[in-house]
Amino acid sequence: MQIPRDFIELLLAKIDLVEFIGQQVPLRKKSGSNYFARCPFHNEKSASFSVSQPKQFYYCFGCGAHGNAIDFLMQNDRLSFPEAIIALARHAGMEVPHEANNKSKKQDSLPALYELMSSVTQYYYDQMRKSPRAIQYLKQRGISGAIAKQFHLGYAPTGWSHVFDEFGKTEEDKKKLFDTGIIIKKDSGGFYDRFRDRIMFPIHDYRGRIIGFGGRILDQGEPKYLNSPETPLFQKGHELYGLHQTLKANRQINRILIVEGYMDVIALFQHGITYAVATLGTATSSHHIERLFRYTHEIVFCFDGDKAGRTAAWRALEVMFPLMQDSLQVKFLFLPEGEDPDTLIRKIGKDHFEKSMNQALTLSAFFLQTIAKQNDLATMEGRAAFAAETLRYIKQLPAGVFQGILLDEVGKRARIDISEWKANLTMGKTPDVILEKSLPEQKHQLKLPKALEIVLMLIVQKPALAVLIDEPIQPSHLPGLSFLAALIAIVRTKPDISTAMLREHFRDQKEESFIARLAGQEHMIPDDGMENEFLGAIRQLKALNLDELINQLLAKATQDNLTEEEKINLTNAINQKKSLTATQHSSSNQ
Ligand code: GTP
Ligand code: MN
Repeated sequence: MQIPRDFIELLLAKIDLVEFIGQQVPLRKKSGSNYFARCPFHNEKSASFSVSQPKQFYYCFGCGAHGNAIDFLMQNDRLSFPEAIIALARHAGMEVPHEANNKSKKQDSLPALYELMSSVTQYYYDQMRKSPRAIQYLKQRGISGAIAKQFHLGYAPTGWSHVFDEFGKTEEDKKKLFDTGIIIKKDSGGFYDRFRDRIMFPIHDYRGRIIGFGGRILDQGEPKYLNSPETPLFQKGHELYGLHQTLKANRQINRILIVEGYMDVIALFQHGITYAVATLGTATSSHHIERLFRYTHEIVFCFDGDKAGRTAAWRALEVMFPLMQDSLQVKFLFLPEGEDPDTLIRKIGKDHFEKSMNQALTLSAFFLQTIAKQNDLATMEGRAAFAAETLRYIKQLPAGVFQGILLDEVGKRARIDISEWKANLTMGKTPDVILEKSLPEQKHQLKLPKALEIVLMLIVQKPALAVLIDEPIQPSHLPGLSFLAALIAIVRTKPDISTAMLREHFRDQKEESFIARLAGQEHMIPDDGMENEFLGAIRQLKALNLDELINQLLAKATQDNLTEEEKINLTNAINQKKSLTATQHSSSNQ
């Protein structure tokens, strides 16, 4: 669905964020035009969550949550972007217009495929009630009726064409069945049902749409589990079984447990652990992890205690390392030999199971333990190998506190001085992948000249100020200058744009988080002093920028000759700098 940008701006202009958030979170007016509350996105005793009326923007000084009305719905109600627009439009009594889109036919038909999946799920569900054998199987596995219902468990009857006959009446229907992987094409022509005589586990995406199935055989046989193939709806490496139910069952998710099987998730839920998900027969991928960390700060991996389990755990650790931001916690729970979560939770119950999760190995403990086992730390050679091997991984961590602590620990165990390594790491000699991710933000955070920070902050917080800039600022190598030019250009075309709309403009762009930080910054400048402060910062910025230009050209002049044009530019820049300093002096002498 394509939603016209104009409509989104109209919508944001019509909603009042203070009133909108105030309906769900009790807001208190505290200072000026800011309202405060206890943050709905993290547990806290004091009120660090602020909502600004003029900015139409919220920001939490505790956890950093931020955004406009659309972000609030996405974060608080866990809606997708288009869903948030629809909900907001409903609130404002507006109708969402659809832009004619020229997407491929395939995508046009997606809604029909989702609908089919949901009908087939209902069909399997109904068949379950008609099959004493299937009901008996669930009973024997200790699955309650309520949990079978919550997970929409079903039964695919014995026979080759029940679903095909029921849902494949027209050519178009057949194609849909085939596209969703529910039926298989015969070599000889014609089709047959993929799932026969199996307990059916519908797989939901995080929003609750059914995208695939897993089917378990009732007796012995191969394969034990049969999964839907990859289809336009279903990408195994991205989806997690149980995530939808986890999101539905909890308003705030303190941790998520990753297990291997469908039955594990179901048994855990039935026994009160309503935050379990399973990968679908694939190893855990960074897609999985990135998605989960949108909802929680702690992930516990559950593995068999045997050698295969340790190997799988190490693979998960390797995926985790580049994603380990300081605020995140990862643990590894190894189960006793011969148990899986399904059998264990039935034996020991929720409390005991949660206790063992609390005591599970942390990522760092598992990491150090594993590498220490492979090297003899009693010898110098062993300690050197230990240090070299750990460093290879530690480099992949995002720069931060955790990286530093882990490095200290390695130094202690290997009995070496790691200060030089540490310096190298913090100098940014981390692998490119990671740098690329964290760079844009860090660059702005670390290197922007103060005057430019102030100019940017004021424009983001009060966009109309940008109109006061009378002449363009000459492009130079000064970092952040092109971003300023982009902001000015936007405000020129829309002088009454709000912070919330400006934020919307940069959705999914690399500047997104920078905008948020600028929007959330607290400054002590009174409303009627903003213009002066802004103009002052602009003057400073111009001076800085001229210095930068002059230095650039002078540096070039020492290496080779300047072109005629560059010489003129240099003279101009020097003159401008002189007159700028002069006016600054005369104005400060007044
Ligand atoms: P139960 O025997 O029903 O308790 O299942 P389990 O979850 O204990 O089974 P297991 O540990 O053998 O498998 C864990 C997960 O691996 C399952 O949930 C499936 O997703 C997947 N899996 C297991 N067996 C097969 C198979 O034969 N084929 C495929 N494609 N996946 C399988
Ligand atoms: Mn099992």
